[in-house]
Amino acid sequence: MSDYVIERVKTGIPGLDELVEGGFPKGDTILVAGRAGTGKSILATQFLYKGAMEYGEPGVLVTLEEPPHLIKRNMLRFGINLDSAIEKGVLSIVDLSPQKEITPVKIGEYPSFDLSGLEAIILSHMKKVKAQRVVIDTLAILAYKFRSRDILREEFFKLCAAITRTGATLILTSEIPAQHDGLGVFDIEAFLSSGVIVLYNEKISQTSRTRSIEVLKLRGSKHSSRIHSMRITDDGIRVFPGEISPGA
Ligand SMILES: Nc1ncnc2c1ncn2[C@@H]1O[C@H](COP(=O)(O)OP(=O)(O)O)[C@@H](O)[C@H]1O
Ligand SMILES: [Mg+2]
Repeated sequence: MSDYVIERVKTGIPGLDELVEGGFPKGDTILVAGRAGTGKSILATQFLYKGAMEYGEPGVLVTLEEPPHLIKRNMLRFGINLDSAIEKGVLSIVDLSPQKEITPVKIGEYPSFDLSGLEAIILSHMKKVKAQRVVIDTLAILAYKFRSRDILREEFFKLCAAITRTGATLILTSEIPAQHDGLGVFDIEAFLSSGVIVLYNEKISQTSRTRSIEVLKLRGSKHSSRIHSMRITDDGIRVFPGEISPGA
């Protein structure tokens, strides 16, 4: 056995560290996947906030779906005050959420679209707060701008590498498609990530659903191979390592 130990960062999700040998490998890219409403954004934002406020690891939230004021309002329900972290200089939000006036986009309008502009913006926010954690929620929204799967993979790879090269740990969120889409964006994201966490909210009877979480893969880690119960509580997301999900 090697005495080389992978440096890990606490996830900030009670119960999750126990499933992943103490935390996510520092500087890795982790994909948090699941259908709509499974808790991906809450988990990723909680990871950032706890990192910034409790573990001395400032963060950058790149939001491409929800506008910051809605994220802030929703997270306050869990006692997570993003504005206080921003005021302390340990959190920065890159707002790329859709604006009210959307310019119609024609197919093929972006012959050479790339992510270098986005990369520069993210890196400058990271520099500003000395970020050790970054969340992109969700990159796949930009997928339609690419003309081929190869370009998409190349661009996603370059962006993730530029972020993690600094030593920061990156969480990507991704909606698992009900039907397989042409570009296979999810497969590319999973391929680029050294860890994949899947969230579920399965129907277990006519009248109830149950939330659960699975560590599908995690590089260099003896992670749990079971599906564990998860709840969204008043304090945010909590995982129950000892509880195997009844829906599993
Ligand atoms: N205060 C709350 N208490 C319990 N559950 C909540 C609360 N706020 C939101 N939720 C649940 O979280 C879900 C949204 O989580 P979110 O992280 O935005 O999902 P995703 O990003 O996977 O689409 C909602 O569908 C709701 O079921
Ligand atoms: Mg979301």
